[in-house]
Amino acid sequence: MRVLSGIQPSGTLHLGNYYGAMKQHIELQHEHECFYFIANYHTLTTVQDPGRLRKLTADVALDYLAMGLDPNRAALFRQSDIPEVAELTWILSTVTGKGLLERATSYKDKIAKGLTPSMGLFSYPLLMASDILIYRSDLVPVGKDQVQHIEMTQDMAGYFNNTFREVFVRPEPRLNEAAIVPGVDGQKMSKSYHNTIDLFGDPQEMRKRIMRIKTDSTPVDQPKNPAACNVFALLKLMTPPGEAAEWEQRYRKPGMGYGEAKKRLAELYEEFFGARRAARADWAARPDDVEDVLRAGAKRARAVAQEVMADVRDACGIVVAQT
Ligand code: ADP
Ligand code: TRP
Repeated sequence: MRVLSGIQPSGTLHLGNYYGAMKQHIELQHEHECFYFIANYHTLTTVQDPGRLRKLTADVALDYLAMGLDPNRAALFRQSDIPEVAELTWILSTVTGKGLLERATSYKDKIAKGLTPSMGLFSYPLLMASDILIYRSDLVPVGKDQVQHIEMTQDMAGYFNNTFREVFVRPEPRLNEAAIVPGVDGQKMSKSYHNTIDLFGDPQEMRKRIMRIKTDSTPVDQPKNPAACNVFALLKLMTPPGEAAEWEQRYRKPGMGYGEAKKRLAELYEEFFGARRAARADWAARPDDVEDVLRAGAKRARAVAQEVMADVRDACGIVVAQT
């Protein structure tokens, strides 16, 4: 089974990205052949500062490595290391109706948030379909917001296969258990809402943000509803097995204050992510080694992409010179 996923280097990664995407990527490396890439072409739809894009791209690689991605198991690479992806995007666009892309909710959401409606933003799902299909990926682990894109990818694979011949396999989405991780204000944690707890943020600043997580004003001497609490939602993700059930009971009885739960959360954050800060710094001090990891990952991925592209070109009658 081949697993593939991508993370955009569009900002500093946060707990939503980790529990929503990266955690399961890393876990899956023990069970399957995994390809993970840094979706820098996608990020050009939002980041148009070359220095910043380079820095954010390098940061995602460091975050993956610090959090335990094993480059001997999973292939880690940049989307742009595989130029065939852009070629396939064009070919898919010729068999895909405009109506399919017009139905993409993420495009409409992004426009509503004030992003420029560029052709790149509009055809974003075509590039994503190409990312997935070019490696004949079976399973695509993502957050809930990306499922529609995978369904569109299934459609595009079908359009191509029906128009020409059976080249692509049908990918399936795989959802993680943490559907939506709340931010410090209770909305979905997202870099565009300025409500994040970053994976490798300044420890004091992150502690402050945790202590500021929005709660209701139920006093200490009254029972509280864990299901409606942002702090509890994060505790559930971060506590060792069994501890969340204890907190749940404490919430339901009088005597527990939200400050106490937040303090525990800050402690867990520091234990878990703080412990990986040194590993991240270690990789950051060896940029050539990181580049070697990306190069080796790209080599593995590109071998598959080149083979699939040869099949695609043959299926649709595109001839290229052997130079
Ligand atoms: P952001 O909303 O911060 O811009 P992205 O859209 O770049 O994040 O998301 C990258 C990945 O992380 C996606 O797979 C997405 O589903 C997941 N993700 C992002 N935020 C959350 C969240 N708050 N809860 C769960 N998953 C999330
Ligand atoms: N669109 C995804 C996101 O914003 C990133 C992405 C790009 C991706 N290409 C992909 C995810 C292919 C899975 C498979 O999170």
